[in-house]
Amino acid sequence: MILVTGGAGFIGANFVLDWIANSDEPVVNLDKLTYAGNLETLASLKGNPKHIFVQGDIGDSALVDRLLAEHKPRAVVNFAAESHVDRSIHGPEDFVQTNVLGTFRLLESVRGFWSALPAEQKSAFRFLHVSTDEVYGSLSKTDPAFTEENKYEPNSPYSASKAASDHLVRAWHHTYGLPVLTTNCSNNYGPFHFPEKLIPLMIVNALAGKNLPVYGDGMQVRDWLYVKDHCSAIRRVLEAGKLGETYNVGGWNEKPNIEIVNTVCALLDELRPRNDGKPYKEQITYVTDRPGHDRRYAIDARKLEAELGWKPAETFDTGIRKTVEWYLANSEWVRNVQSGAYREWVEKQYDNSTKAAA
Ligand code: NAD
Ligand code: DAU
Repeated sequence: MILVTGGAGFIGANFVLDWIANSDEPVVNLDKLTYAGNLETLASLKGNPKHIFVQGDIGDSALVDRLLAEHKPRAVVNFAAESHVDRSIHGPEDFVQTNVLGTFRLLESVRGFWSALPAEQKSAFRFLHVSTDEVYGSLSKTDPAFTEENKYEPNSPYSASKAASDHLVRAWHHTYGLPVLTTNCSNNYGPFHFPEKLIPLMIVNALAGKNLPVYGDGMQVRDWLYVKDHCSAIRRVLEAGKLGETYNVGGWNEKPNIEIVNTVCALLDELRPRNDGKPYKEQITYVTDRPGHDRRYAIDARKLEAELGWKPAETFDTGIRKTVEWYLANSEWVRNVQSGAYREWVEKQYDNSTKAAA
């Protein structure tokens, strides 16, 4: 049994779906179901005894203590976080609450549980913390990609809160010996991505005939990784990562934002042409830049490849095509996110036994 937190969000849900498809080991999935948590994403697991969903907060120590005592997981994988940079600029408090205080409380609960385990289970236990490349700050055009040795220079409230959580995880290893692993990944994309982030926003806005808002000059660079590749990297680090180490995860796919938007437009022109025959890129609109916008991120993933033999399976070309095709084939999921109907999914689709544990 493993405990996954934030497993109703974009990456966490992809991780849970892949885990259950590839393993017999059950998952307890603890998620607060903020606006970003969507149980409709996990609809295919309805009635599956390998998935136990619990609605709750990683900062609710009594709940987390109870779940740990009841299910005795051999590992905790922590995805739970506030994840959107723009939201962190408008309202940073939730980011401090969940990413900093929540991670602290989760670490304390896990430490209490882990300390009391019998020796063999204690040494096999793992706490894997899922983090981001944004903790390293911004690169210039010519800087080498981030390695695990780069110093932390977070620039947004989001990245500062993630950096703080990484430091707590590190300290809980150094001070208490908690068996932790940390992954720092670049920008993910793929199925079930909430349409507030660049790629899904561009797809859904394009199809709805709306503007495609590109911040500033559109020349900020991100390093894109297909979400399933991030999930396989986490599985590999959980399986074979060295305790206390951090691993950068990335796909060697640096692209300026405007190129991403043009690629999405071109794929839509091919797969779902506009009724008027005009190209989707006509909808691109340059808008005011994000304050403090980091110019470039790039991940050097050689450590993960050399030490643990991980490599991404998708190129950007294959991954982005799959992603656009997924959004075209899953218009109901998109509609329910946009209308807010996904928030009722828990009442509609989950019976009391799956929700109840909370
Ligand atoms: P997301 O916003 O889609 O999902 C976050 C999930 O966490 C949601 O289901 C939400 O309900 C849940 N959650 C929030 N606060 C909680 C709390 N207090 N207790 C329990 N659950 C809570 O985020 P994502 O994009 O899936 O990111 C997952 C993790 O990966 C985050 O830690 C993020 O920092 C990290 N990350 C994301 C990316 C990316 O490109 N999306 C890249 C690198 C790292
Ligand atoms: O690098 C990893 C990070 O990637 C994760 O830690 C974050 O959780 C995740 O949200 C993502 O952060 P970004 O800020 O890079 O992602 P976002 O999709 O918000 O923006 C990607 C780029 O596109 C960024 O340079 C801002 C720009 N952008 C974004 C939006 C939403 C636009 O130009 N227009 C937009 O409408």
